[in-house]
Amino acid sequence: MSVIAVVPAAGRGERLGAQVPKALVEVAGEPLLVHAVHGLLAAGCVDHVVVAAPAAEVGVVVAAVRRFESQVSVVVGGAERGDSVRLALRAGLRTLADVDVVLVHDAARAFTPVEVIRSVVDTVRAGSAAVVPVLPVSDTVKQVDATGLVIATPDRAGLRIVQTPQGFDAALLRRAYGIAPEDDESSPPSSVSIQATDDAGLVEQLGVPVQTVPGHSHAFKVTTPFDLAVADALLTGQAG
Ligand code: C5P
Repeated sequence: MSVIAVVPAAGRGERLGAQVPKALVEVAGEPLLVHAVHGLLAAGCVDHVVVAAPAAEVGVVVAAVRRFESQVSVVVGGAERGDSVRLALRAGLRTLADVDVVLVHDAARAFTPVEVIRSVVDTVRAGSAAVVPVLPVSDTVKQVDATGLVIATPDRAGLRIVQTPQGFDAALLRRAYGIAPEDDESSPPSSVSIQATDDAGLVEQLGVPVQTVPGHSHAFKVTTPFDLAVADALLTGQAG
């Protein structure tokens, strides 16, 4: 049985303000995407990675991941993150016949430690059909209305920040994304609407329990120029 990882990397990353899509922004001389793929393969438990690339940058992405040879393939991403995941998932399930575990990992979480990746795979293999790495919430969180007025203060002890990779039993994620078991090249795209902000959210909508495992501060999502400075400091050993 094998593990595939799907890497949505087709976002524009507007909050970063860079000239290139976020996945291609370089940290320590390598695009974020390459750091993310390298981490997945370095974990030693992922057999194949499918990257969803921005349509205009497919050639650049293919060149960037060429060093990983046949362990990585590239598809054109979709309009929303969920579309990109579905397109890459379909491609990955066609590439390997015996996939039992699927990871979905944001290219922007490029510095996720291999221990987190292994822990997610191990926990799926141990019988949890959906697994997410999480961190406790250190700030107080307020719920506000459209005018900015605070309407509630949820108890932060029961809240968690969710990271990736999120791991799933392959048949479950296929069902969550509306991909038929007999799916092939000629199948029309599924009409399932992908509203959830993460993949585990889709699984929750199916009523399937989602297990949490400890995440890591290094698995933060590079979103803003500040995050990019943190990433640089991390790789040059100036941050822990
Ligand atoms: O925008 P956000 O940071 O939430 O995106 C999370 C991940 O989803 C990023 O790695 C981004 O490249 C990816 N994405 C995608 N296709 C889209 C939008 C976002 O693959 N259409």
